[in-house]
Amino acid sequence: MSDLLQVEDLVVEYGGRHPVRAVDGISLTVRAGEVLALVGESGCGKSSTARAVVGMEKPAGGAVRYHGEPVPPLGLRTRAAALTAMQMVFQDPNSSLNPRKRVAAQVADGVAAARARGAGGPQEAGHWLEQVGLDRALAARYPHQLSGGQRQRVAIARSIAARPDLIVADEPISALDASSQAGVAAMMRRLCLDAGAGMLFISHDLSVVRQIADRTAVMYRGRIVESGATEVVWNDPVHPYTRALLAAIPRADGKGNLPQAPAAEAPAEWASEVPEALERA
Ligand SMILES: Nc1ncnc2c1ncn2[C@@H]1O[C@H](COP(=O)(O)OP(=O)(O)O)[C@@H](O)[C@H]1O
Ligand SMILES: [Mg+2]
Repeated sequence: MSDLLQVEDLVVEYGGRHPVRAVDGISLTVRAGEVLALVGESGCGKSSTARAVVGMEKPAGGAVRYHGEPVPPLGLRTRAAALTAMQMVFQDPNSSLNPRKRVAAQVADGVAAARARGAGGPQEAGHWLEQVGLDRALAARYPHQLSGGQRQRVAIARSIAARPDLIVADEPISALDASSQAGVAAMMRRLCLDAGAGMLFISHDLSVVRQIADRTAVMYRGRIVESGATEVVWNDPVHPYTRALLAAIPRADGKGNLPQAPAAEAPAEWASEVPEALERA
C-alpha cells in the first residue's frame, strides 16, 4: 500500500506571551484503505496535528506530505481542486455546516468538489444521506431543524460526497449521544474503506478506536509514545503511558473514554522515550 499521508518530525507551536509547543516532532503515515487512530488525553496536541495535516496550521518544523507533495497553507481563497480529495470532519458540525443553506445544497457542495476533480459518482444528495443512515427527506431541511447527531451525519455525508481519498476526522463522534457513537464510527470506517480511502481518526474513546482502527498511535504531551497495529498496542502495550491508559479504562460500562483533563500527578516515566514502543507490527 502506498502512503497517502506522510507526517515527518512535525512541530506545531503557538506564539504569544506564553509560547506552547503543542506538537513536538511526531511522525506518522496513513495508507490507502486503512484507518489510523490518534489517541491521547485532552491537550496532548491531537487537534494541532490534524490542523497541520490539512494546512490550517503552519508547521514550525518538519513536513506534511499528501501524495508525496507538501500540503500548502489553507488560505482564504478556494483551495486547489486536487486538495478537495482530502476532507476534514470536525467535532462540532456547526463549525463546518452553513446555517443558511439547506442540507441538499451542502451535500451538493461535496458533489461539486468531486466533479471539479473529475471524480464521478452519484450526484443526488439523497443518495449520500442514505449512505450515512439519514432519510432522504432531510435534504430539504436547514441545519437548525436537525438534531446534533443528524447534523454530524450531514457533515460526514458532505465530506464523503466529495469522494475523498483521505479523511481527517478530529473527534467526529465526541459530540454525539453515547448510544450512536460506536455506530457512526463504524459507518465512517465502512464508507472510507468502500471508497478505498484512508482515514486519520482522532478520538479519546479507546473502546471505539479498538473496534475501527487498523493502527493506533498514542500521543502524550506533543509526542507519539507508542504506535503500531491496534491489536498489538492493545494486547501488549510497552510504553508506561499506554499501560496506564489501558488500565484506566472502565470496562464495566463498556465505555473507554480517556480523562478530559491531563492527569494532575503524571509520573515522569510517562514522558520517557521507549524506542521499541514505536511502529509495532
Ligand atoms: N490556537 C492556539 N493558541 C495557543 N495555544 C493553543 C492553540 N490551540 C491549541 N493550543 C494549545 O496547544 C496544546 C495542544 O492543544 P490541542 O492540539 O488542541 O490538543 P488536543 O486536541 O489533543 O486536546 C494545548 O496546550 C492547547 O492549550
Ligand atoms: Mg482536540
